[in-house]
Amino acid sequence: MWLARALDAHLHGFDISLVAAAQATARSSRFVPAGRAAFRVATLDDTGLPDRSAHGAVCVDALALATDRTAAMRELGRILAPGARLILTQALRKGAAPRWEEQARAAGLVVEHVDERPAEPAMWARLYRLWIDHADELRRELGDDQAHNMLHEAHRMLPALPGRRAVLLTLHRPRRNRRPPGQPIR
Ligand SMILES: C[S@@+](CC[C@H](N)C(=O)[O-])C[C@H]1O[C@@H](n2cnc3c(N)ncnc32)[C@H](O)[C@@H]1O
Repeated sequence: MWLARALDAHLHGFDISLVAAAQATARSSRFVPAGRAAFRVATLDDTGLPDRSAHGAVCVDALALATDRTAAMRELGRILAPGARLILTQALRKGAAPRWEEQARAAGLVVEHVDERPAEPAMWARLYRLWIDHADELRRELGDDQAHNMLHEAHRMLPALPGRRAVLLTLHRPRRNRRPPGQPIR
């Protein structure tokens, strides 16, 4: 919503969670005029948006949650207009071979830039420790179920964070499909 306001853009947001979509809808008037942002329930591999309709797409800390990341990337590629960019966060084990070039190719996209985000794992570690330190407040404010989920995530993720590499990818859909090999230039 901050980006939509900064860029004077129309925003079509989606999330698998009805709660997330409702919360975003409730907050949108703080950022953009009525009618400029719409949020609904949809999944990364089935957005329901028309082919080539988006002039830009942003996917923050969500691709890893898709059932099939390659299918999700293909769907995000499908909705991008020629020349449009997709900005995507990804995390992987330090030293692991990244699969984003292969996933991008399968989606008809090109990886334009990889930004390393070395401070991100430490940021999550600080956040998770705060959740653990304030567990009683979380239970009081959010209820046992929600607090349990958050604390479970914190304990599960904390040990993996020192070995984690976080990146921000910029991908784009080429304006024209490349000429197949051997086909003459007309
Ligand atoms: C870590 S949160 C990030 C939310 C938001 N992008 C942000 O940066 O604040 C991950 C979000 O992805 C959503 N999500 C999980 N699986 C999804 C899927 N298959 N399709 C769409 N959204 C999904 C979750 O409901 C959650 O809201």
